[in-house]
Amino acid sequence: MTQPPIDYALLGKQLHALLDTRDWLTNSAQLSAFVFEQIPELNWVGLYLQREAEVLSLGPFQGKPACHPIPFSKGVCGAAARSGQTQRVDDVHAVADHIACDANSRAELVIPIMSGDALWGVFDLDSPQPTRFSAADQAGLESLVAIFTQRTELPRFC
Ligand code: SME
Repeated sequence: MTQPPIDYALLGKQLHALLDTRDWLTNSAQLSAFVFEQIPELNWVGLYLQREAEVLSLGPFQGKPACHPIPFSKGVCGAAARSGQTQRVDDVHAVADHIACDANSRAELVIPIMSGDALWGVFDLDSPQPTRFSAADQAGLESLVAIFTQRTELPRFC
C-alpha cells in the first residue's frame, strides 16, 4: 500500500519538544516510542548502545524482544557501528550476515549515533515491507537522530 509522504520537518519539531530532558535513558525511550508511533509499517524500533568496546547492547526499544548482545563484527547493526555510516537495506534476506531477531523483518535502516568522534550507539528500524526505507526516509530519520544527539547528554560508557 502506498503511504502518504512523511513530514519529517514537522516530526523534528515535535521530537525537539518531546526531548525536554538531557537524560539519555528517557530520551532514548521517547525517541523509540515516537518513531514507532509516527512512521508506518515498522515492526521494531530501538537503540543499541556501545557499553563495552565493540559490542552493541540492547537499549530502549519498541517491538518484540530482540537479539543481545551484537558484536561489531556481525549483522547490519555491526556494519553501521564499524563504518560509522547509515546502513539502508531493501531486503535483509539478501544480506548474508543479517541477524534475524524477527522472521517478519524484511527492510532495515541502521543509523550510527556519534558522540564526537566516538560511536555511542545505533538507532535501528525494521519493517516487514521490503524496500520500506527510501533515501528520503533515510535523510528524515537521520535528521531525527541529529535532534536526539543535540538534545541529549550522551555519557561515556567505555
Ligand atoms: N537485524 C539486526 C539485528 C537487530 S534487530 O533487527 C532488532 C542486524 O542484522 O544487525
